[in-house]
Parts: sequence; C-alpha cells; structure tokens
Amino acid sequence: MTFTALVTERREDGGIANTVTHLEESALPEGNVLVGVEWAGFNYKDGLVLAGQGGLVRHYPHIGGVDFAGRVIESSDHRYHPGQAVVLTGWRVGEWHWGGFATRARVNADWLVPLPKKLSTRDAMVLGTAGLTAMLAVNRLKAEGVSPAGGPILVTGAGGGVGSISTLLLARLGYKVDAMSGRPELAGPLKALGATDVVGRDVLAPSGKKLLPTRWAGAIDSVGGAPLGELLKQINPGGCVASVGLAAGDSWDASVVPFILRGVTLAGIDSVMQPFAARVSAWDRLTSLFSPAVYHSMVREVSLAELPEIGNAILKGAIRGRVVCKPGA
Ligand SMILES: NC(=O)c1ccc[n+]([C@@H]2O[C@H](COP(=O)([O-])OP(=O)(O)OC[C@H]3O[C@@H](n4cnc5c(N)ncnc54)[C@H](OP(=O)(O)O)[C@@H]3O)[C@@H](O)[C@H]2O)c1
Repeated sequence: MTFTALVTERREDGGIANTVTHLEESALPEGNVLVGVEWAGFNYKDGLVLAGQGGLVRHYPHIGGVDFAGRVIESSDHRYHPGQAVVLTGWRVGEWHWGGFATRARVNADWLVPLPKKLSTRDAMVLGTAGLTAMLAVNRLKAEGVSPAGGPILVTGAGGGVGSISTLLLARLGYKVDAMSGRPELAGPLKALGATDVVGRDVLAPSGKKLLPTRWAGAIDSVGGAPLGELLKQINPGGCVASVGLAAGDSWDASVVPFILRGVTLAGIDSVMQPFAARVSAWDRLTSLFSPAVYHSMVREVSLAELPEIGNAILKGAIRGRVVCKPGA
C-alpha cells in the first residue's frame, strides 16, 4: 500500500526541498494507531519546518504537519477502533515524528483524542492547534479572575489563527474584545467574529516608560517580543496576559513594575504537552463555543503542493485566519 505525502528533505547544500510524493506504508514510523488523514491544519511551526528553520526537525526525510484529523484505519490500542474519528495536536508530531501532511499517519494512541461528535474532521482542523491554544488561553484568563465585567481584552495578532479564534471565543463568552491587527483591511472580518473594536499595532509601540495608563483587563498575546512589554504596562490591576506566541520575537526589555505595582499576571500557555483529559475538556468546550458559519470567511483550503508557499506567507505574518489542507485531494 502506498500513500501520498509532502516530504521535506535537507539537501546537501543545506537548503530544503519539499516534494509531493508517494511512499510505501511500511515507511511510516512506529506507532499503535494508523490514521487516514482527512484534513491537516497549518500553523506557524509548520511554516518553520517547511522552511528548515527553528531546529524543530530531528531527522530527514520528514513529513510535517503538527495537527490533523481523520479516521482510524488500524489500532492495537483498546481506546480506538477502525472508522473512529480522531484529532491530533502537539506532542512534537510534525517535528520529531512524521505528521499530518500525508494521507496516512502512524502515531501513539496517547497523542490522539476522539473527535467530538458535533465536529467534522474539517472543522476540527479549522480550529486545530490554534483553536486548542485559544481555548486554553481563554480558560486561563477566566481562572485568573478576568471576567467580562472587568473591562476589555486585547487580542494581538488578531488576523492570524490563534488571534482570530480567540476573538471569536471571547466574544461568544461576553467579553469586549479589542482586536489588534497590522492589517486594517481585516477590520470588517474581525468585527464579524465579534471584536468590539479593531486597533492597530501602534497601541503597543515603544513608549520608553515603565507604566502606562491602564486600558485592558487582560490579553491573549500571539506576538511576544517588545509589544508584550508594552502590553504589560497597560493591564488593569490584578489583570492577566496569556502569552501564547512569538510572532514579533521571543524576548523584550523587561521590568517587574507591572507585576509589583499592579499585581499583573503573565501566564504561559503551552498547547503541545497537554495531557489527554485537558485536551478532551478543551475540545468539548471549543465544540460548544465555536461557530463554523461565523468563522467561514477566515478559512482557506489548499493542496499539499501549495503548503510551501503557505509556509512562506505565515512566516511573514500574511495568513488570514486558518489554512486547512486535504492531503488526499
Ligand atoms: N503556545 C502554544 O502552544 C502555541 C500554539 C500555537 C501557536 N503558537 C504561537 O503563537 C503564534 C501565533 O500562531 P498562529 O498560528 O496564530 O500564527 P499566525 O496565523 O501567523 O498569526 C500570527 C499573527 O501575528 C501578527 N504578527 C505577525 N508578525 C508580527 C509582528 N512582527 N508584530 C506584530 N504582530 C505580528 C499577524 O497578525 P496581524 O497581521 O493581524 O497583526 C499574524 O497574522 C506563533 O508564534 C506560534 O508559534 C503557540
């Protein structure tokens, strides 16, 4: 039996080659569940992998794709049976282990969760790692006491996957959302997701100050870097910033002043190593809050062959919402 995959190889000159090809099923890595991949998502990390950046891949040739949804073909694990719909996010799949940019994936059962009944495999990947991460960030804000009554929430990188889904989820839960985007043309689509206001990246421009007037009760931050430093200075006393990503960088010139004078919390979110029960619970909540119809205009479907180009776009911050791929198309 053969399957189709986008195979990433490191060339002798150090460059990277991404080629759609057919492989024998026996080439798949070890694992106790064989899945027929119906849809794969596309994430920032996938862009790094297809460009050979970030040091994420251990061995070549490699198959990327950090999340996918599909149906079980074979399983030697009692929790999964042939035909069952499943979803996979994280656990270094698509980095250390072959991932979802293929019609077949063989994985460890512990990395899967059963697909919630009300969700199609396509919508599971419209959400994907971005949706799971957004849900974990929203849950964390609530756990830290940030309520809709406390004031607006800033979502940075709102035009991207995590940011746009965070905007939708927060709005559904009754929060006022200021969606920050460097793309003014996304103001309409972001308001359609439920953003109260759309603001430019200038709200987090360098200020040279240790504190600024307070503006937000909390934030979900996909961009990190210097903008995160400016964000912390504008959070209400007792507020919380859920730090999710590093689209603008992984470090900034930090000060403890927002923490010790305003009691601000900086909460880290890691979607990759979430245990089974936490993933099941987050997927259930996502299923009840997410509206595929409302999010429709933020989704693009592409083929395996188009993924390298999508990878270049995501690294430039130029992807709108979510990209999903049907490897068998
Ligand atoms: N912690 C976790 O478990 C986890 C899970 C998933 C993703 N992530 C990380 O979260 C981040 C977002 O992921 P994603 O999938 O949503 O990526 P994405 O779709 O590319 O979204 C990132 C968005 O950030 C904004 N942006 C890009 N470059 C920027 C810059 N230099 N300054 C300010 N804003 C910039 C852009 O939005 P606008 O054009 O609208 O401003 C862009 O669309 C990535 O760093 C990713 O690695 C972490």
